[in-house]
Amino acid sequence: MRIETAQREQLQQWEKELEQQYQRICQHNLSLDITRGKPSADQLHLSDSLDGILNGDYRAPDGTDTRNYGGMEGIAAARELGADILQVPFEEVLAGGNSSLTMMYHAVLTGYLFGFAGNTPWKDLRAPKFLCPVPGYDRHFSICEQLGIAMETVPMTATGPDMDAVEEMLRADDQIIGMWCVPKFSNPTGVTYSSDTVDRLAQLGKFANPGFRIFWDNAYAIHDLDQQVKLPNIRDAALSNETADSVLQFASTSKVTHAGAGVAFVSASPDNLASIKKQMSAMTIGPDKVNQLRHARLFPELTQLKEHMHKHAEILRPKFACVLEHLDKNFTDSDLGEWESPEGGYFVSFNTRPGCASEVIRLSAEAGVKLTPAGATFPYGKDPEDTNIRIAPSFPPLEELDTAMSVFVLCVKLASVRKQLQSL
Ligand SMILES: Cc1ncc(COP(=O)(O)O)c(C=O)c1O
Repeated sequence: MRIETAQREQLQQWEKELEQQYQRICQHNLSLDITRGKPSADQLHLSDSLDGILNGDYRAPDGTDTRNYGGMEGIAAARELGADILQVPFEEVLAGGNSSLTMMYHAVLTGYLFGFAGNTPWKDLRAPKFLCPVPGYDRHFSICEQLGIAMETVPMTATGPDMDAVEEMLRADDQIIGMWCVPKFSNPTGVTYSSDTVDRLAQLGKFANPGFRIFWDNAYAIHDLDQQVKLPNIRDAALSNETADSVLQFASTSKVTHAGAGVAFVSASPDNLASIKKQMSAMTIGPDKVNQLRHARLFPELTQLKEHMHKHAEILRPKFACVLEHLDKNFTDSDLGEWESPEGGYFVSFNTRPGCASEVIRLSAEAGVKLTPAGATFPYGKDPEDTNIRIAPSFPPLEELDTAMSVFVLCVKLASVRKQLQSL
């Protein structure tokens, strides 16, 4: 289907046929949901042995009684797990509670209220703002929005954020004090940053505001679908550029074990860690070390962790294949949309023709298929071109996903044809 060059009569014919198909689907009273990137029950079952794994032995390998208070940095065995995931030395890792998003929120608060490593607190700047590669992760944007930190968008490319734009913006504006990055299997585009991108990001600290921090949210560090995709190490790049303070890294086991009951990690330079610990020390006496020990027992070595992630990949692979098959079959050689084929992570990002995304989402919802709200992948929920839709294949069973995708492609076609007819 190429609608740009189609005559009015052809478009009207398509609209009629698509409308009939759509009405038939609406009668099926579907109730399907491909909104959030949640692991499926099958994936959660992979980690059910966490329950009972301690078997009454609450001592960490270093002798710590994990049931008691204290140990704000987390137990060493959990910090080692975080170090394996982020590929950094364990001394630079803190293991925390169940959510890396909480850690990111607190890190932004630390910068905002107190400043990192002796720098001016962001609240005392004239107009503090964050750079936000788009499309991006809605919850990153919510943190900034809630704290009143302005957001400036930078387009994502196939190799990461548009680095020419990033550098130009940072050189022109010393009020930019943060940047969100999901460097591997980016949410939602699935892109992994290239080594040139990582290297250029590591150099930003040379000319940015000294309080500037990259929030390196490596949520999908080990979530490869087939062979391992290598992400260049930002810590090493920053160290060789003498900008180690400009990077804060985050990860968690949320999409490794039980999504709501995992362990989160932050890794940073010694000065940044000192700032984080200072803020934390007023907030908590220590994290849930018992859960940290459960995780350390489940993954005593990197080998077990890798084997476990292969099992996730086996469950996820057919689901991604299903989504991509629908898109390939319906939209290859069409002018109805564009997408990337991710090699891991949790999402497929689809761009409709300009001005069609919200209508596709509305039509799908009326037909019983819930999609992520239009604009969710942009700051303030506003996608200026109204094109981006994030598809999350992980949660529904394969048959449901297959049905949901049939509805989705039909809605893309119908919305696109109607829009084109309106514009004639
Ligand atoms: C990029 C990204 N970061 C963080 C999270 C949430 O992580 P956590 O469960 O550790 O808070 C998600 C979950 O979807 C995500 O996609």
